[in-house]
Amino acid sequence: MPAETEKYMIPHHLDGERARLRLMGGYLDPLSRRHIEALGLRPGWRCLEVAAGLGTISEWLAQRLAPTGHVICSDLETSLLDGLANANLEVRPLDLTTDALPTGCDLVFARAVLHHLRRRWEVLPRLVEALAPGGALLVIEPDFGPVAELEDADLRRFWEGFVAWAASVGIDYSVGRALPARCAALGLERVGAEATTAIFNGGSPVAWYWLRGMRELRSGMVEGGFVPPELFETLETRFADPAFWTRVCTFTAAWGWKPLA
Ligand SMILES: C[S@@+](CC[C@H](N)C(=O)[O-])C[C@H]1O[C@@H](n2cnc3c(N)ncnc32)[C@H](O)[C@@H]1O
Repeated sequence: MPAETEKYMIPHHLDGERARLRLMGGYLDPLSRRHIEALGLRPGWRCLEVAAGLGTISEWLAQRLAPTGHVICSDLETSLLDGLANANLEVRPLDLTTDALPTGCDLVFARAVLHHLRRRWEVLPRLVEALAPGGALLVIEPDFGPVAELEDADLRRFWEGFVAWAASVGIDYSVGRALPARCAALGLERVGAEATTAIFNGGSPVAWYWLRGMRELRSGMVEGGFVPPELFETLETRFADPAFWTRVCTFTAAWGWKPLA
């Protein structure tokens, strides 16, 4: 692996990052728990969550697996994980691109991080290496495919500008659709995948999640010429209007098991 750490474009010290992650968890945590349960979560499992953000899934896993299971909750920056305190939960700073990862895990969980990493397809095999034989990998990543079909032309232009800005800083919003084939190519067995798209209205928690994120990134998108300022006004108006229903990205969950032999 190259030794250089990748710069994360939305670091934790940005205003509102904790609130943004909490809004994101409100939507993605129930979905993640459902997928983890479906993998056959059992007492005694040794679990690794990477790029854990607020660590809400690690916290749930630790409670769910107590007293015999063990959870390693890791992130590049652990400042948002300081409050976690379960006897069977260990917080570890881990850079996915450079650090040695734990091994022998029954479950490795990664959510909403690969799309941020330029070396994402070098990191995925490292997650598989962290598994014990028979262990399960679950990866959940966004995909902005749905914005190409939006009926509202202004919002379509807004999101296409956002995706182009993201690509200019190394963020790939088409990662979700690539996950199942990538997992299968790494030798995982019983690979499966499911994509879920939230359909939401203005003023809802999902709308606020996107508005907060876009406000924080606005200057880079406008100054770089990716999105004209008037399209931000359109987004603000639509996403505050409870009568306006829309969708943004889909989240692809992909899973598979490391062969026993
Ligand atoms: C969009 S947040 C997602 C957080 C959490 N997985 C969730 O879904 O709520 C991306 C997370 O990836 C972490 N991250 C970014 N680059 C990383 C790296 N090289 N190694 C480990 N974590 C990284 C960030 O610190 C951040 O917590």
